[in-house]
Amino acid sequence: RKRLGVFTSGGDCPGLNTAIRAIVAHATLSYGWEVLGILHATQGLLERKAIPLNAEGLGGMDVLLNMGGTILGAINKGDTLAQADDVIAGYHELGLDALIAICGDGSLKILQQLAQQGNWNFLAIPKTIDNDVALTDRAIGFDTAVNIVVDALSRITSTAASHDRVFVVEVMGRTAGHLALYSGIAGGADVILIPEIPYSIEGICQHLQKLRERWGRKFALIVVAEGAHEIGHDPSQPYPPHHSIGQYIADQVVKQSPIPIELRVSVLGHIQRGGAPMAMDRLLAAGMGNTAVDLAAQGTFGRMVAWQGGQVVTVPISDVVAKCPRHVDPDSFLIRTAQGLGIYVGDKP
Ligand code: F6P
Repeated sequence: RKRLGVFTSGGDCPGLNTAIRAIVAHATLSYGWEVLGILHATQGLLERKAIPLNAEGLGGMDVLLNMGGTILGAINKGDTLAQADDVIAGYHELGLDALIAICGDGSLKILQQLAQQGNWNFLAIPKTIDNDVALTDRAIGFDTAVNIVVDALSRITSTAASHDRVFVVEVMGRTAGHLALYSGIAGGADVILIPEIPYSIEGICQHLQKLRERWGRKFALIVVAEGAHEIGHDPSQPYPPHHSIGQYIADQVVKQSPIPIELRVSVLGHIQRGGAPMAMDRLLAAGMGNTAVDLAAQGTFGRMVAWQGGQVVTVPISDVVAKCPRHVDPDSFLIRTAQGLGIYVGDKP
């Protein structure tokens, strides 16, 4: 029997277990492959730590469909390339005929190198709440994170409105603004700040003043991506030189606002990565897992499964790596939509 390895690498997110479940079901039931779940990604290859995953077990593991995180564990750090030879040998010593990694862009770059160097039969499935993997419209985990942020925004709106307060809500996304943009539009933000379009404190203050004068609105919602930066800030530095961008913006707005403002900050943090996947991520995980197994069975490797124009397609991993990370296009329809809704999205040059 052929043996397929699977692991999850990089930060966790909702939908990883759903993808694992789909891979095990299709590989074992449709193709009669054996599946090994490698624990903690490359760490498991290094230490030869893996567990058998089988469809009978899946009967009892249907709970996986609803479970956040990853049963295989993940790593979001570690200098894998320094121990490349040992990691590569792990693939061969575990007797793998193919390996599917469910990973983000950081891991993909490293894994691609290891796969080439070690002659692995390698495939990838994109996952990240940042949605910044190139050549795919969606990565597993993004849709659920957007829904979590939208839910948080609606809860914050009710308390903000009751107390006439302005809230700065800081969301994740690393150097990309997809999560802030999608959730900000869907969650009724008045200001959305993303790394791709620099903002000015003056622009934010003017916008808050306009809301007050035009609509009598004293409460407002400012959604800021953790990687957003101010006009004039060196964009090669992903994070501004302060601990929390949300707190920084709050302090500056209170200081510079021409109208009196009561302001609170809420940093959503890892809540955005936890819990059960929403329907869209379950469908994506099932479709991508299924397609990756088909590729392995056909003997096609070096490709990532992607979601483009409502379809599951496959793309060369080398192309993905060359184009990562994928940023928000400042001229995209979503930016125009936000502007059309009267949202301040920074100062486009
Ligand atoms: O890449 C996913 C992500 O959640 C980012 O949005 C965030 O910047 C980072 O991971 C947090 O990493 P950690 O879980 O290691 O703190």
